[in-house]
Amino acid sequence: MYCVRNVTEDLYWVGANDHRLHLFENIHPIPRGVSYNAYLLLDEQTALFDTVDWSACRQLLENLEHLLSGRPLDYLVINHMEPDHGASIEEILIRWPEVKVISTEKSFMLMRQFGFHVDSHELIEVKEGDTQSFGKHVVTFVAAPMVHWPEAMVTFDTTNGVLFSADAFGSFGALDGKLFADEVNFDRDWIDDARRYLTNIVGKYGPHVQLLLKKAGGILDQIKYICPLHGPVWRKDLMYFIDKYDKWSRYEPEEKGVLIAYASMYGNTEAAAQALASKLCEKGVTNVWVYDVSNTHVSQLVSESFRLSHIVLASVTYNLGIYPVMHDYLMHLKALNLQHRTFAIIENGSWACKSGDLMQKFIDDEMKNMTVLNERLSLASALNDSKAVELDTLADAIVESVNA
Ligand code: FEO
Repeated sequence: MYCVRNVTEDLYWVGANDHRLHLFENIHPIPRGVSYNAYLLLDEQTALFDTVDWSACRQLLENLEHLLSGRPLDYLVINHMEPDHGASIEEILIRWPEVKVISTEKSFMLMRQFGFHVDSHELIEVKEGDTQSFGKHVVTFVAAPMVHWPEAMVTFDTTNGVLFSADAFGSFGALDGKLFADEVNFDRDWIDDARRYLTNIVGKYGPHVQLLLKKAGGILDQIKYICPLHGPVWRKDLMYFIDKYDKWSRYEPEEKGVLIAYASMYGNTEAAAQALASKLCEKGVTNVWVYDVSNTHVSQLVSESFRLSHIVLASVTYNLGIYPVMHDYLMHLKALNLQHRTFAIIENGSWACKSGDLMQKFIDDEMKNMTVLNERLSLASALNDSKAVELDTLADAIVESVNA
């Protein structure tokens, strides 16, 4: 059975929702599922914008057969060929052998690499600024390299202001009928998944997102709809989401607040993390979030690190090093290029406390544009009364920095 929604005149969402996949890219948990968005334009000529993951191909085909009602599919525009969107390309080519495929040179190269058999079909290679008319609708193609793969482009329909934004402005979470961001309480129910998606998937490529935002800035007044490849379509309050993307891709925190990430073997480092959280709240900084790195998925830690201005790392020493899960979290922050945060350190070690110096060294040597507060809480096995002044001093330093 088909499952489609009208986006605007002539344009339909023909994608699918996936609640079966547990791990996006086989790494990021998606408890609320994910959508693979594809869009069909019914103009004098018909055009499909992107396809879907292989697991959702059947739904895409039923949607297309319903809407096309026997009309040919004239064009297939591939903005992003990564397999969660491009895996069904070949099936489209088999069903509609006359379809002309529009994409970038690099995209066709990658399709060949992945073994999609595109070369027996008419391929139209486009680059920045090229246009294509489908009848009433004229679209222009805009290069979007590294948002999130090098071949990516976005397509702007100059006739009705629809921006097919590829991975940009996407989100984890299945749509479950609610296609538009204004049909959900996005700021309450979706923003965390949207941030987790962007920061973990495209976080490393902030400067490339900035480049795309600059290009979009030139036509901002003409953009009426943003149609991403995952998550809701935007037709109202576009600046709310554009501003979020701007902050995330500049690595600027959304909020003044403190993330306390602790690594604790027997609960003693955890107790110190909780004591610090209480002190901060007592001193008036209440936007405090405490996470156990051992039972919080690193994609969530990354997302929270992008949200908040201050990060406290509280780690036990393990094999004379940083606790491995804490180290993994730091490696992710480095890989995703997070910058402009203020760190504080709590270290613990029963006979050779090393974690504090090692975390400090990691931040200093491996990360960019970070500040580490001088005040540090050093524990020998457990927090006790003798450390009350040190704890208080650390809390004061964080409060002063947050309020600066
Ligand atoms: Fe959803 Fe970069 O693909």
